[in-house]
Amino acid sequence: MPENGPVIHASVIAEPLPEWREAISARVRTRLIGRKILAYRSISSTSEHLKKMGAHGAPEGFVIIAREQTQGRGQFDRKWISEAEKGLYMSILFRPPWFASETGHLSVLCAVSVAQVLDAAGLKNVTIKAPNDVLVSGRKIAGILIEPRLGDEYVEFAVAGIGLNLKQTEEDWGSLELKTPATSCRMEGVELSEMDASVQLLECLDRNYAAALEGRRDALVKEWIARGGSAEIPNV
Ligand code: BTN
Repeated sequence: MPENGPVIHASVIAEPLPEWREAISARVRTRLIGRKILAYRSISSTSEHLKKMGAHGAPEGFVIIAREQTQGRGQFDRKWISEAEKGLYMSILFRPPWFASETGHLSVLCAVSVAQVLDAAGLKNVTIKAPNDVLVSGRKIAGILIEPRLGDEYVEFAVAGIGLNLKQTEEDWGSLELKTPATSCRMEGVELSEMDASVQLLECLDRNYAAALEGRRDALVKEWIARGGSAEIPNV
């Protein structure tokens, strides 16, 4: 497994940030998610990098965090604007023992976990718009991109990419034509640092994923529906 040194994949341009990796690792209390982390000051896309690592056998729970992405991607091949130190840009590698048809439970897991972290930070009216958006008072605050590699029957692995708006202001969206109006924690009157958001989200994902693996996916689905997610689990 590569250390936080030069990146081996030619298509990935990245500047490591070992002090972040150490700081997060020192704080995070998880059993699986984020036990191994790479952190970057800047990277093309955390998900692109982690997909390559997944294909080379990186273990479940591996996480990549960056303070900036130069080619952040959203759903439907859209761009995910990932300015330095404005948001949380994180990807997580899952290897769930699930049928391929159950991959959508990762959307449920990630969206509910993001929503719970935002609740705990003091944001109000946190809802979910299926399949992969988290909203505050109807404005998008986070987006999730689930990219699975499926075997014949089962999920081989999946990379969940999460982009959470932390410090953007109205000017940051200014001239952009956004599909859904956007907001950030700062715009909602809550200051949440990248570090705190990272640690809290990893711990929340760890708890919820453990519950899902122990056969308690129903509670997550119930919360997903209660927060406005569809009654059907999304097709990823
Ligand atoms: C969406 O709402 O369209 C999904 C956005 C997902 C963005 C995240 S940021 C971290 C990870 N790396 C990427 O390139 N995309 C995801």
